[in-house]
Amino acid sequence: MKNIVLLASGSGSNAENIIKYFREKKISHNFHIITNKKDAFVLERAKNLNVSAEVITKKQNDEGILFDRINELKPDLIVLAGYLLLFPAQIVALYPNKIVNIHPALLPKFGGKGMYGGFVHDAVVANKETETGITIHFVSEHYDEGAVIFQAKTPVAEIDTALDVANKVHELEYEHFPKVIEKLLDD
Ligand code: GRF
Repeated sequence: MKNIVLLASGSGSNAENIIKYFREKKISHNFHIITNKKDAFVLERAKNLNVSAEVITKKQNDEGILFDRINELKPDLIVLAGYLLLFPAQIVALYPNKIVNIHPALLPKFGGKGMYGGFVHDAVVANKETETGITIHFVSEHYDEGAVIFQAKTPVAEIDTALDVANKVHELEYEHFPKVIEKLLDD
């Protein structure tokens, strides 16, 4: 049984999908959810899933509270699933190759500060890309720059809207993110 800390800033559909994946496979890990937003829907999902969850705001994060909490939780893996704050360098330094993020595009394309959620898919459509995808990568002290663990692609049609692209990308995320996490936990 491993300790997995999931961080999400908003909806948390990936967090839910990851937890359900392991439950369906009857693999019992300890999950704990942290969000920086007190009204994030991920808190609702945590309640429904019966998973512990807490809010650590940006201010608390800056005060070192996230750092202390993560150390208390003794995570085997830290998973950023739609977490929009820059992850504290202090934590990154302590947990080399134990923090993973999912980015909804094919990095190094469409990454960096400000490139999140709908902005990524808007940019993909505006740029007339013919394909996009997901990147699962280790977290470094810079946005979207750690070593790539896994990528998967999906075609973008000329008529696709940013919402269509978002839906395709979410499908890839749901399919692959739990499997990549499972593999990392087994290594
Ligand atoms: C996902 O597309 C993820 O790649 C990105 O933020 C989105 C989060 O979606 N980093 P959700 O909160 O898991 O529904």
